[in-house]
Amino acid sequence: MSGQNRPRREEFPRNPPRPSAGRGQRRPNRSRGGTRRPLDRPRRTALEALRDIDRSGAYANLACSRVLAEQRITGRDAAFVTELVFGTCRMAGSYDAIIEHASGRRLGDLEPDLVDVLRLGAHQGLAMRVPDRAAVDTSVDLAAHVVGERATGITNAIMRRIVARPFEQWCTLIAGDDPARERALRTGHPQWIIDAYAELLGPDELEPALAADNEAPEPTLVVRPGLCERDELLAAGATPTRWSPWGARRGGDPAEVEAVRSGRAGVQDEGSQLVCLALSRAEQLNGPRWLDLCAGPGGKSALLRGLAAERGAFLVANEAQPHRARLVSLALRRYDRRGHQVIVADGGEPAWDEAGFQMVLADVPCSGLGALRRRPESRWRRHPDDLDELVPLQQDLLDVALGSVSSGGLVAYVTCSPHRAETADVVAGVLDRVDLLDAPALIPEVPNAAAATDPRFVQLWPHRHGTDAMFLALLRKR
Ligand SMILES: C[S@@+](CC[C@H](N)C(=O)[O-])C[C@H]1O[C@@H](n2cnc3c(N)ncnc32)[C@H](O)[C@@H]1O
Repeated sequence: MSGQNRPRREEFPRNPPRPSAGRGQRRPNRSRGGTRRPLDRPRRTALEALRDIDRSGAYANLACSRVLAEQRITGRDAAFVTELVFGTCRMAGSYDAIIEHASGRRLGDLEPDLVDVLRLGAHQGLAMRVPDRAAVDTSVDLAAHVVGERATGITNAIMRRIVARPFEQWCTLIAGDDPARERALRTGHPQWIIDAYAELLGPDELEPALAADNEAPEPTLVVRPGLCERDELLAAGATPTRWSPWGARRGGDPAEVEAVRSGRAGVQDEGSQLVCLALSRAEQLNGPRWLDLCAGPGGKSALLRGLAAERGAFLVANEAQPHRARLVSLALRRYDRRGHQVIVADGGEPAWDEAGFQMVLADVPCSGLGALRRRPESRWRRHPDDLDELVPLQQDLLDVALGSVSSGGLVAYVTCSPHRAETADVVAGVLDRVDLLDAPALIPEVPNAAAATDPRFVQLWPHRHGTDAMFLALLRKR
């Protein structure tokens, strides 16, 4: 995490008033009656989100939005809670190693609620420049609340040890003479993800790529073509995206923008927009029927739907999960229903005629390693073994995409992961049946967009392009 982007605690409103202590005296944890002072509301709220993420597998962004809405926390306090939740999730692996070292215990020997309190405290003390005493005392308060008074002594002792060293010193201490481990701890990445990046990037780019994963991106809006002009987003305070003609960046809540509320615009990373831009410029993109094979939640479907309207094509948007198919319908709700159909089906068992489409987008389920900026918890949830299930599914879906498109038709194979096994290796399995188009040549305004694995693939990167690490291969069926 770069020091520049760390919110300083002083930037946020002060905690709610507490019982006052005498001048010069240390404020006691408890009042004289033995009752604890009121808990700090933002920290308590952040802890609730963390417990939800840890215990129920909730996504950090959804858990955070939920607790903020329930507690009606807005403005700077909301920004503080968001940094607590996102930052703690992002660096959880490193903080766990520090907690183990500082406590002299294995993480599994500590109560899960206590682990959440300590992670939250570690993030404040090591990354947010919260004064040490505040990081320790508020952690003790939280531990008393969620674990019980019996946990206050141990929390106090562990937190004092944690804040006694700066983060970088902890990393060096724990890693010893293992520089790879030091890098993994310092950048907050599991080693297998670092290895996957290192295979694709030169040594000079590895550190910037890892650092970029730890920077929260500004939300990016996208127009629904034909329903909204980008100028309307700019008039609402957004700034144009660097390359996509449909996008605009804007901090704050996207729902503040009328076009987003009314479904004439949406939220979509610029990387996904650029994939659609390249596809839209392929001369092979013609014909009356297009298929989006894995459409949920519908971001690319909406762009394709707008393009289809311009070119007189019909879009079928398929999604395996009913709840995600509903999101696709929501994304398309302002378009004329006669121009598209949303269906719920396993793409592996096509519910349509073979070779019935002239274009198929296969934006397949993947490890999501290219979207770590936006999903802070995912790097610790994913494991290399996940690829054993994902890659065969990706191969099947690409196979179905090729079966669904007519001869000479176009298949766009897309992932939001740069991992070689999910990208170049999957495409390699069908090269005897397709011609590979030069996808980076379709977006010449985007510099350095060619993949290391093959210069005809597009591979975007957060540190190069400020986008998710989207991969695109454009294939013409022979
Ligand atoms: C990477 S996401 C697609 C993102 C989408 N194209 C967008 O831009 O909003 C992959 C989607 O594939 C869906 N999926 C997973 N397995 C599938 C299958 N066998 N058939 C069809 N869809 C599937 C997932 O539920 C998920 O919604």
